Amino acid sequence: MLKKTMSAAAALAVGSLALTACGGTSSGADDASGGGGDDTITMGFAQVGAESGWRTANTQSIQDSAEEAGIELVFSDAQQKQENQIKAIRSYIQQDVDVIAFSPVVETGWDAVLLEAKRAGIPVILTDRAVDSEDDSLYETFLGSDFVLEGERAGEWLVENAEESDVDGDGDVNVVQLEGTTGAAPAIDRAEGFADTIASDDSIEVTASQTGDFTRDGGKRVMESFLNSEDGIDVVYAHNDDMGLGAIEAIEAAGMTPGEDIKIITVDAVKDGMQALVDGKINYIVECNPLLGPQLMELAEQVVAGEEVEPRVVTEETTFTQDEAAEVIDERQY
Ligand code: AHR
Repeated sequence: MLKKTMSAAAALAVGSLALTACGGTSSGADDASGGGGDDTITMGFAQVGAESGWRTANTQSIQDSAEEAGIELVFSDAQQKQENQIKAIRSYIQQDVDVIAFSPVVETGWDAVLLEAKRAGIPVILTDRAVDSEDDSLYETFLGSDFVLEGERAGEWLVENAEESDVDGDGDVNVVQLEGTTGAAPAIDRAEGFADTIASDDSIEVTASQTGDFTRDGGKRVMESFLNSEDGIDVVYAHNDDMGLGAIEAIEAAGMTPGEDIKIITVDAVKDGMQALVDGKINYIVECNPLLGPQLMELAEQVVAGEEVEPRVVTEETTFTQDEAAEVIDERQY
């Protein structure tokens, strides 16, 4: 039988985490979680935060899909802090939810809390980001992008367009990198995939690299400091659109034309990023798909039913040049 209700004690314990229950089909009067009947699946979802347009689209996809699937969702926003996510996961264990899903803020430091979930018999699904653990029995599956491949795709475009990207024509392509959150899987993997790929061309070099924490403000702040400290910047490689959009603001404020005086490559392909690509302010975007909700709910139903699932489910993604973005921008959902 599915575990469905939140005890009064557990509800009190999690009050300070601002968890939000939503979704579900019907609401029984005796159901303290506010959810459906005996066969309703309850999912505790610990989100990273609301740092980017990508994250907003991802949260919306998860909430909409839970509602559609009749899954009771208890949602928390960790505000980019690992300790908040660990607290949320512990509260889900106390609530005895049917399944826990989360997108880890950083890669390391999860074994203890995942072991607690395992001992409580609650399956865990990783979504969007991976954990760095030697024990893969601590979670059922990992649904999300191949971030190394995303970094490689960004690097491939630069290698193919190295000559045009040497904006000052001095023979060197100087790249500044706006990294995602330090220790987060997409920041580590996108840097690695990019570095490995540009290594094939001696003219391309990452001359400065700093975290902008996946936020627009962070990207702007770091780009302002790069513009003050670095000579001859040809290219910005930003680990997401939001940081790239922040860099555009800094470049324009410095009296330069983004996309021309400095080439810009980003990852995500959210609406604002795609618009900047169409407008010529970004030169290339590698897609990272945030619409993980439908697949996540399907996997949740399978693991709760005790079915075997693939240990790794990779999201399909593409890339966009300026012309390709112009063709699809009107149909973009996010
Ligand atoms: O984990 C996915 C990354 O996290 C997205 O690229 C970024 O925008 C988000 O904040």
